[in-house]
Amino acid sequence: MAEETITNLANIKHIILVLSGKGGVGKSSITTQLALCLVNSGNKVGVLDIDLTGPSIPRMLGVDEKQVHQASTGWVPVYLDENQQLCCMSIGFLLQNKNDSVIWRGPKKTAMIRQFLTDVCWGELDYLIIDTPPGTSDEHISIAESLKDVKPDGAVIVTTPQAVALADVRKELNFCKKVKLPILGVIENMSGFVCPHCEECTNLFSTGGGEAMAREFEVDFLGRVPIDPSFTLMLEPSSTPESNDFKNTLLAKYPKSNLFQVFSRITDNVVAKPNQMEWRLLHQALVYQAKEGQEKLLNEVKASENATDIDDDVEIDID
Ligand SMILES: Nc1ncnc2c1ncn2[C@@H]1O[C@H](COP(=O)(O)OP(=O)(O)O)[C@@H](O)[C@H]1O
Ligand SMILES: [Mg+2]
Repeated sequence: MAEETITNLANIKHIILVLSGKGGVGKSSITTQLALCLVNSGNKVGVLDIDLTGPSIPRMLGVDEKQVHQASTGWVPVYLDENQQLCCMSIGFLLQNKNDSVIWRGPKKTAMIRQFLTDVCWGELDYLIIDTPPGTSDEHISIAESLKDVKPDGAVIVTTPQAVALADVRKELNFCKKVKLPILGVIENMSGFVCPHCEECTNLFSTGGGEAMAREFEVDFLGRVPIDPSFTLMLEPSSTPESNDFKNTLLAKYPKSNLFQVFSRITDNVVAKPNQMEWRLLHQALVYQAKEGQEKLLNEVKASENATDIDDDVEIDID
């Protein structure tokens, strides 16, 4: 099974999970915006929605009417654009009726998530972003277990200023530690409110909670995203047929929004993290090498000093 997982994910350069202790804090919105920003900077991106009981990615990306197709190689994800820069997969596409609620037992969830990883033909991707349900449940354990050999970049933890329940975050961070999932950092969502009229940002709740929490747990703070009602409006299904053409899709609309500027900087922070980690490892390797080199150099110096001593001795002898 593990080998199967690796085969289907073999051509994916980076895998990032989006987690949070609570529902409604914006995991799916953060997943969506991370994907849109990455596509905007020229990456090929896939989104995997493993929220089996409340899948919201198909609706957020405006493709909830689409269906996945079965090819000889597996499930073909739903593509959002002609250039196939963004695709997604969700249980939402497999339900007969969008309003169906599915009651999953633990082993069924595990099997479904494994199937999402082994049977979807993701092809070549720069990034796969995985949207998860709240907390640390069966889905999280299954995904962490299935991705063990693939070594994802890590997890982004989403919180809101008012939901900074330290116990929840501690659980989330402990989970990441237990399953050896690197923590890329914390994003504070719904941090302040952008007025739709004057575009000024007002702090409705206290701010800085996410940052303080990140400091307390010694993880990085990746940035804060304000509440922007125009973002929610952008996700509403369009009623006019002409607004469903490609020019009006989320991929085209989002870069013109206020949140795009904010989220682009956060995306830069997220993607810089694995590189920083690589750099840290490289730095450690260099320090190690340097130490080894230093030792070698010291030995050489010592050896040459001994040789000089002999020469000196010889010189002294000659004198
Ligand atoms: N920064 C934001 N500005 C405005 N609305 C937001 C923002 N973040 C999330 N929302 C809205 O809040 C609701 C819950 O967000 P969602 O991403 O579905 O949360 P979760 O996935 O954590 O349950 C959605 O309707 C979403 O559109
Ligand atoms: Mg969600």
